[in-house]
Amino acid sequence: MSVLRAMLLWGSRNKWMCNRFPRYAFVRRAVRKFMPGETLADALQAARNFSGQNISVVLTHLGENISTAAEADAVTAHYLDVLEEVHARDLPATISLKLTQLGFDLSEEETCKRFSKIADRAGSYNNFVWIDMEDSSYADRTIKFYKRIKSEFSNTGLCLQAYLYRTAGDIDELMENMPNLRIVKGAYKESDSVAFPKRTQVDANYFHLARMLLPAMKDGKARVIFATHDKILLEQIILAAQGFELSAESLEFNMLFGIKPSLQSRMAQRGHRVGILISYGSAWFPWYMRRLAERPANLWFVVKNLFRR
Ligand code: FDA
Repeated sequence: MSVLRAMLLWGSRNKWMCNRFPRYAFVRRAVRKFMPGETLADALQAARNFSGQNISVVLTHLGENISTAAEADAVTAHYLDVLEEVHARDLPATISLKLTQLGFDLSEEETCKRFSKIADRAGSYNNFVWIDMEDSSYADRTIKFYKRIKSEFSNTGLCLQAYLYRTAGDIDELMENMPNLRIVKGAYKESDSVAFPKRTQVDANYFHLARMLLPAMKDGKARVIFATHDKILLEQIILAAQGFELSAESLEFNMLFGIKPSLQSRMAQRGHRVGILISYGSAWFPWYMRRLAERPANLWFVVKNLFRR
């Protein structure tokens, strides 16, 4: 991991920076590249714009590691509202949330009750709920939580990270649950003892996981979304999928708002199902630092905004 990347990921967990940096106008200007705005209304408007391109969206309200039950209840109420708004506007939009937003650090039982309320409401509208994967200290508990929730709510899915050594084994174990999975490379600062240290190794493992999953997709035993902007990887997966006679439409790709928009439209034009993850909310600093860490060249964009009015 480069020193710059490690510093940015360190910054994402630094309380002083989290409080201080969002106050600077140039940082706020720079973050707009990755989010349409801080409010749900901004995100819903962006969802409407994407629907014209035959692209769906995944909405996520920023914030993680809340510290009181009242905050977790407020997040739950917010996601219930989001589902209502999406339904009322007939938008092609699902939601994705972090278990720590629902109080995972405080009580797993209460988190399960809150999550169930959201999944139940989503089910009543024929909608879907994704669970983000946080840093590796949460992996075991999150997977166990997903197995439990999936037995009751089929309209739920889990994100798994290709940078973790454990993920191939996790996929093997999850297969009996007919899982819905979103595969990403992984965005947190992890040690070599749990995660592949080199990008080339992460990419190779991502493709290995894709090849493990394609037969299950073909047999209808798993729904899988490949969430990446890596063009080479995307082409490798599309080619491998043809070997299993999977149609263009059966391949689902997710990308992040503001990253490679032309690739997003191209994938949709080629007949694949494309979803864009739209983040919104005022607690964007840790999330934004992870986006910078993915591509430290983005720092130039922040610097440029320093000189703009
Ligand atoms: P890679 O980082 O190799 O990027 C490929 C190319 O995409 C780069 O060369 C660059 O051109 C472009 N690119 C990528 N990131 C960029 C950026 N920030 N700015 C500008 N260009 C960029 N992670 C996690 O740990 N838990 C989770 O729950 C999720 N959830 C999630 C959902 C969705 C829909 C997506 C797309 C991603 C996530 N992630 C995530 C983040 C994921 O782990 C990963 O950090 C990013 O997707 C970047 O990795 P890529 O696969 O794009 O590859």
